[in-house]
Amino acid sequence: MPAIVQVSELAVAFPGAGDGWHHVVDGVSLTVEEGEVVGLVGESGCGKTLTALALFGLVPEPGRIVAGTVRVGGEDVLAADEKRLSALRGGVAGLVFQEPAQALNPVRSIGFQVSEAARLHLKLPGERTDELVPKLLAEVGLEDPAGLARAYPHQLSGGQRQRVLLACALSANPRLLVADEPTSALDTVSQQHMVELLEKLRERRQLSVLFISHDLALVGRLADRVTVLYAGETVEVAAREALFDDPRHPYTRALMNAQLRVEGGGSQRLPTVPGTVPRAGEWGRACRFAPRCPVAFERCRAARPALTGLENGRQVRCFLASDAEEPDGKR
Ligand SMILES: Nc1ncnc2c1ncn2[C@@H]1O[C@H](COP(=O)(O)OP(=O)(O)OP(=O)(O)O)[C@@H](O)[C@H]1O
Ligand code: SF4
Ligand SMILES: [Mg+2]
Repeated sequence: MPAIVQVSELAVAFPGAGDGWHHVVDGVSLTVEEGEVVGLVGESGCGKTLTALALFGLVPEPGRIVAGTVRVGGEDVLAADEKRLSALRGGVAGLVFQEPAQALNPVRSIGFQVSEAARLHLKLPGERTDELVPKLLAEVGLEDPAGLARAYPHQLSGGQRQRVLLACALSANPRLLVADEPTSALDTVSQQHMVELLEKLRERRQLSVLFISHDLALVGRLADRVTVLYAGETVEVAAREALFDDPRHPYTRALMNAQLRVEGGGSQRLPTVPGTVPRAGEWGRACRFAPRCPVAFERCRAARPALTGLENGRQVRCFLASDAEEPDGKR
């Protein structure tokens, strides 16, 4: 069966100074197989959200996909017209946005918003959506679903709103759920509950899930496979156990060490990797991680490594894991 998400060498750019395009994502490859949970992880600004938006043809104007291929549920997203893209959004795939406060319409009832995708994609009449909404709200673990259906977003807590968004995303029975930082606004206990809920939903609905987070430990609780992004490109892909037992990219190792420092009671609240991420588009022709890499050597500052397939589906973009570099002429 073909993968439900297949992204290859995606590049997204915004108009820069003069005539040029400023690349903010350049080299993201990502696969989600049917029924699989894939974690997409990386520091702030590495391109997680833009990658998720690109899956739905939703890169914000004046941004554009300038290279690569994007297939979702068999649809070539770059070639699809608005009608096909709209069938994809909410129909084939549900998207839970990063900002729960902004994603819900303040003047529409919860019931109206939860039933929207079902009305649009399943063409359900009013009485059927009246039955569906409380079921969906109960399925995402909300109490008093009938009362909640009549409520408005401002009457709900942040955790409740996040669950409502999940119910909206599931409304038309999608095969794929894309959840962009669904836990980042929640406290630790609510985060744990959200992860448990996603696990249950995945089992019950046989969903494929793309779970996006900057938190590698959280991703490790849910994902079958992990894709690590750094500075707009994929640097490592591996099955969860393989990644945690034997991380091959120095950035993946740095992320894990940062996480351990926090778990060990370090003073930082968020895990941080020493050094700073190069600004988007100012990547040059070297390995983008070279300025922060503890094992960088001369070649790393002169050429960009290619994302290379190794054993068991693992992919790594590092000269120490493979000898390959990007062909000349590529950024
Ligand atoms: N509308 C936009 N216009 C110009 N640049 C943008 C726009 N949206 C995102 N970018 C840039 O693209 C890069 C990737 O942004 P993106 O939001 O995908 O990162 P992210 O990994 O989701 O970060 P976070 O963890 O903070 O959510 C960043 O450098 C960001 O500044
Ligand atoms: S290619 Fe070089 S700089 Fe880049 S991650 Fe590997 S060792 Fe570090
Ligand atoms: Mg984001």
